[in-house]
Amino acid sequence: MASLSPFIPVQPPRSADWMPAWRGFYGERLRNTVYGIAEPAFDVAIRTRRILGIKVHILMNPPAVERVLLTNKANYLRPRLAQRLLSPLVGNGLLSAEGEDWRTQRRIVAPTFAPAAVANMAETMVRCTIDNMAKWPKGNARIDIAAEATDATMAIIAHSLFAGDSRLVDPQAAYYIGQMLAAAGQARFMTLLGLQDWDPSATMRRARRSRDWLRKTLTEVVRDRGPDGGGDDFFGGLIRALGEQYAPEQAATLAADNAITFYVAGHETTANALAWTMYCLAAQPELQEEARDEAVAAMAYPAAERFERLTLLKQIFEETMRLYPPAPRFDREAEAPDELAGTPIAKGDLVSIWPWIIHRHRALWDDPDRFDHRRFAPEHRAGLHRFQYLPFGGGPRVCVGARFATMEALLIMAQWLSARRFALPAGFTPDPVGSVTLRPRGGMPLFVSPV
Ligand code: HEM
Repeated sequence: MASLSPFIPVQPPRSADWMPAWRGFYGERLRNTVYGIAEPAFDVAIRTRRILGIKVHILMNPPAVERVLLTNKANYLRPRLAQRLLSPLVGNGLLSAEGEDWRTQRRIVAPTFAPAAVANMAETMVRCTIDNMAKWPKGNARIDIAAEATDATMAIIAHSLFAGDSRLVDPQAAYYIGQMLAAAGQARFMTLLGLQDWDPSATMRRARRSRDWLRKTLTEVVRDRGPDGGGDDFFGGLIRALGEQYAPEQAATLAADNAITFYVAGHETTANALAWTMYCLAAQPELQEEARDEAVAAMAYPAAERFERLTLLKQIFEETMRLYPPAPRFDREAEAPDELAGTPIAKGDLVSIWPWIIHRHRALWDDPDRFDHRRFAPEHRAGLHRFQYLPFGGGPRVCVGARFATMEALLIMAQWLSARRFALPAGFTPDPVGSVTLRPRGGMPLFVSPV
């Protein structure tokens, strides 16, 4: 066993006290949602603010989060404000649909992400990782692990859901997705006013160009497949199932909406989770050795069985997603009055759930900023409230790809660890920047050497 780890992973500076809301509209606070968060946020159950006339309740109390995501979920829908930015990209696909449209689409895709179906994709995940590593230098090198993670997860999503369509492994796509998500996470004045399409800033111009490229490319993928789906893969099945439920034109539009949804949601988040986990392993060489021993032993088994044997690596992955939740924040809008953590909620109020804050909250975790994977050992995990750890969200709209992402991340890291050692280059500290996802700004250049 590695000795008790005193590792405190990096986080952006906090402010000592609450800041006025307008400070979030410019500078680093606009670009980075996890920068300058007020210390008291990590102590209180709820904090209510008014931002340009909209009441926003930031919720840190797990039973109240449970009420929003599960027990009173019909009252809390994805906010119209977020839809304004995302719907030109993901349309009415699974991520943004509500009501019957959401239920129909979730029913269609659910079997693809059931445990047995995901296990069938394990070989593809490993094959894509081996191809990715084949491009790595053989000897000692500095490698941007965030870029490698994106490369591997992009290939995996393209091969396991879209029959390896070459348009989906275009390196340009990773750039476009990054630009889109960075802008979507910013609380910009023009967006709040509903004028995002006229926002002249360079950030929004790049975001619009990126959105247009993604929409055009994925619409072409759907058109080339035709109404019979053009194959027996996930996407072919999705096109056929939508064709049975909706009129042809609507079915084609929904197919494109979901293509973009699964393509973007299906690899960006996992790539970020991988980059942060490799940082935590690089910073703790003893723990990395233990994880390597486990990975090497697991290699003797077929890919689908390997996953169940990577128990230490899974705990490390989970602890990393506690400290660096790949989706650091998500929101809901109240449809009717309610009460949360003793605070009255009015129709139209926003409820903001921040895994970043909840996962580091002082009332919920001992020594919250310290890395300790043993929090996720079965005997300790059982003591957690199920809404105090929510990297994948919770309730019926929990991430449909959670098992896929976990298996993929563990198989990629097992492959990496069994062949290479990872270390932090002298003087390097990663820089977490939050938007829709939590990325390391400037990448994650690690020192990589053969084992
Ligand atoms: C570590 C990786 C991932 C993380 C941390 C993550 C996180 C999340 C979170 C927090 C939500 C819920 C958002 C909300 O309630 O507003 C969500 C939803 C979703 N995720 Fe993931 N995700 C990951 C990987 C994936 C993968 C691999 C896929 C698909 C292959 C995927 C597809 C989706 C979809 C389609 C939804 C919307 C589900 C619905 O509304 O019914 N995600 N994800």
